[in-house]
Amino acid sequence: HAARDHARVLTRTPDRTHDHRQFRHDGPMRTIDWRGDRVVIIDQTRLPHDLVVAELRTVDELVAAITSLAVRGAPALGVAGALGVALAVLTAPDRVEEEAAKVRAARPTAVNLAWGVDRALARLPEGGAAVVAEAVAVLEDDARLNRALGERGADWLLDRVGGPVDALTHCNAGALACVEWGTALGVLRSLHLRGGLGHVYADETRPLLQGARITAWELAGLGVPHTVVVDSAGPSVIANGLVGAVVVGADRIAANGDVVNKVGTYPLALAAARAGIPFVVAAPESTVDLGTPDGRSVDIEVRDEDEVLGWRGERIAPAATRALNYAFDVTPADLVAAIVTEARVVEPASGSLS
Ligand code: MRU
Repeated sequence: HAARDHARVLTRTPDRTHDHRQFRHDGPMRTIDWRGDRVVIIDQTRLPHDLVVAELRTVDELVAAITSLAVRGAPALGVAGALGVALAVLTAPDRVEEEAAKVRAARPTAVNLAWGVDRALARLPEGGAAVVAEAVAVLEDDARLNRALGERGADWLLDRVGGPVDALTHCNAGALACVEWGTALGVLRSLHLRGGLGHVYADETRPLLQGARITAWELAGLGVPHTVVVDSAGPSVIANGLVGAVVVGADRIAANGDVVNKVGTYPLALAAARAGIPFVVAAPESTVDLGTPDGRSVDIEVRDEDEVLGWRGERIAPAATRALNYAFDVTPADLVAAIVTEARVVEPASGSLS
């Protein structure tokens, strides 16, 4: 991979996999950052065993990093989109719009990617410097707003559930899905700092294991007691009364409150409704897409069959067997107790998003 060619291996030693100093909110290393003429990312395909920083100097390198999930998670994709336009301005000033279209098309489901591209591109008539400044503003905004979102979500949970809150989460909506801090994990992190967090169950998140690899790594670094369960055990964790809330992120929230998130989220919402515990979605306003009427209208990414049919390059299923590898699913609004953003809490059963 192009991203890998520029990779700088910071550490390969497994005994440093719980070192989270880089995730201090004022710390030196962010999930994604801008260095004047290039994008730097933590290569998430290598976590938790290797903490590798990749430098992306061209739009093609950035697109490869997005499609391989070296950089992933809706808010981080929004920042990647904006910084991709900044890279285009510097490397292909005559073709900025075409290059921006490549970035926008790299993944379809998280609305943040197109939102980030469009926000930076809108400044193009003012010149390249304005585009770069806007892209950096997208980056800084994300870092700032996640803290507000975390505090708001922690308030809501302490009010409705009472502390300490035991919670189940899915995929990774942590610092590694954003610039820093996190959305769903940001809420849990804010709770933790207040002494209001109990135990966290993290779904492993098939097939790319964002939960077992990345969320568990973040929780370990934060000192949060946690347990990984297979995705199909999540509903039983809820039914067995082990958690008081489900807290997840989102890739797109439709105008009617339907929530699109990592495949495997919907069964958690069904189980939460049956058990009478709140299903809470934590996401920035940039994930709310009023132009999408409902979840059915969202382009759900279907990824390569090999992610499901094989394991580490080795075939598991019979040679003739096919796979349907949905990357996301839709949770209907009526199952969502609260959508927490940096600006508000919407309870879809009783309020609209507009
Ligand atoms: O395929 P991914 O890893 O990019 O999917 C990420 C998720 O589904 C997250 O839950 C979502 O983007 C919210 S991240 C704050």
